Amino acid sequence: MKHHNIYKLPSHVAIIMDGNGRWAKKRGLPRVFGHKEGAKAAEKAITFASELGIKYLTLFAFSTENWARPQEEVNFILKLLVDYIDNKLDSLVEKNINLRFLGRKEQLPQSIVMTIQKAEKETSNCTGMNLIIALNYSGRAEIIDAVNKIISKGISSVTEESFRDYLYFPDVPDPDLLIRTSGEVRISNFLLWQLAYSELYFTEVLWPDFDEEEFLKALYDYQNRERRFGRIEI
Ligand code: IPE
Ligand code: IPE
Ligand code: MG
Repeated sequence: MKHHNIYKLPSHVAIIMDGNGRWAKKRGLPRVFGHKEGAKAAEKAITFASELGIKYLTLFAFSTENWARPQEEVNFILKLLVDYIDNKLDSLVEKNINLRFLGRKEQLPQSIVMTIQKAEKETSNCTGMNLIIALNYSGRAEIIDAVNKIISKGISSVTEESFRDYLYFPDVPDPDLLIRTSGEVRISNFLLWQLAYSELYFTEVLWPDFDEEEFLKALYDYQNRERRFGRIEI
């Protein structure tokens, strides 16, 4: 697995991990079983991306809109995340993976904030893949937070470049490739600013079934894209 030599590897891959609920429903199981399997698929994707040499992997784990789900389901998803960190933090450090969380942290329960901070701190010296987990994330909220930071500094005018400095992670390059599973063809308030010129890849595969082979399919598809950025073919 360690020696895939993929040409034109995207530097930043972002994934909307969707379809956990439907995966469970198809099997006559409660939705939370889908989330449990989804966490395993996320672990697989993280390990694979890191082995391939992808520099940035951003995973959409929980949106600000997801609070509207039944309390039980919300609690389960957040608990899965805390368990994931508790169980995998050492292995992340071993794989030299730097972990950060993207989103409004102040609205998260205190216990989760502490877990997140611990994980960020313990992986802060890791120089391998940058793993970014979007948690309580909204693309519109990120833009609004940036605008409010700018206003509070008394800045009266910005450029596209200077605006970027007020986003949550100014150092992270825009995604080259966005993957969304489960057949939904929408952005659902993910990385609105950053996805302006990303290549989009949609697959019918439900997130718990997304494995290394499916990941490779997305990467091969990306290799055949021609990124023009408004220019003409050369
Ligand atoms: C994605 O799967 C996980 C989260 C949004 C947290 P869903 O839970 O949205 O699964 P579906 O879309 O209902 O199948
Ligand atoms: C997007 O999935 C959010 C995450 C994957 C965390 P949703 O399932 O919440 O999106 P919609 O509601 O189908 O747009
Ligand atoms: Mg969904």
